[in-house]
Amino acid sequence: MAEEKQTNLSELTLIAIEAALAAGDILRQGFGTHFQIKSKSGHHNLVTEYDHKAEQSIIEFITGNVPNSQFLAEESGASGSNKNGITWIVDPLDGTVNFAHQIPIFAVSIGIEQDGKVIGGVILQPMTQELFVAEVGKGAFMNGRKIHVSKAPVLKESILATGFPYNLAENPSDCIEHFVDILKAGIPIRRLGAAAIDLAYTAAGHFDGYFEIGLSPWDCAAGKLLLEEAGGLITTWEGKPFDIRSRNTIIATNGLIHNEAVTLLTRSI
Ligand code: IPD
Ligand code: CA
Ligand code: CA
Repeated sequence: MAEEKQTNLSELTLIAIEAALAAGDILRQGFGTHFQIKSKSGHHNLVTEYDHKAEQSIIEFITGNVPNSQFLAEESGASGSNKNGITWIVDPLDGTVNFAHQIPIFAVSIGIEQDGKVIGGVILQPMTQELFVAEVGKGAFMNGRKIHVSKAPVLKESILATGFPYNLAENPSDCIEHFVDILKAGIPIRRLGAAAIDLAYTAAGHFDGYFEIGLSPWDCAAGKLLLEEAGGLITTWEGKPFDIRSRNTIIATNGLIHNEAVTLLTRSI
């Protein structure tokens, strides 16, 4: 069967791609140099001058091309006007702790929300030049090639990814017990430190599932669409619909292992 290539992208998605590529260049140039690092809340929740530079570049570029847009961006919050019904949900640097520690695993994530529904998503990993793009109803792609979730049929044959919220020390029972429980069941877990990449890699079938708690909308707006367009399933740990603004629990899988994963995550420990 001929490989399906991504064609006919909407104008908005093309703009999001250009904005992400330009921000990715900024991040790649900054990576490994000396730059300013500050703590936001708590010692380990960091922001670097490159988070700000990348975000500013994305907002300026999109505003120049799509006037009257609204933004929900990690560093500058809500801005702009929603006259055209479009909100760009932006994480200019997902994986800031990695970036600050010279670990080359981080991403730019841009979700395009129209009248309350995410219709397009772009996730770029600048160091590997992996560009993930999805549009609603049109599938998910990596560097123009169609991607699918994995075919792992059961949890015991799966590899999962997870992440931990910055305030973990305040609510350790939220995550750690499940983490240990899954490892004890013999299921390997990776912790990359960038939720957008965790979701993109689950969409591409590198991971069979990913779970976390307390994500912000900019961590998961693009990734949720990508995962769904790649044939995956994303819910709360209780199996309820996942809302990107809820900061709820999240479990994203290839669909086949979803019920098993939900059962494991809701099991009282
Ligand atoms: C964080 C990363 C991390 C996840 C955190 C996020 P940031 O985003 O995605 O993997 O565990 O919950 O806040 O702060 O690097 O943009
Ligand atoms: Ca993030
Ligand atoms: Ca960020």
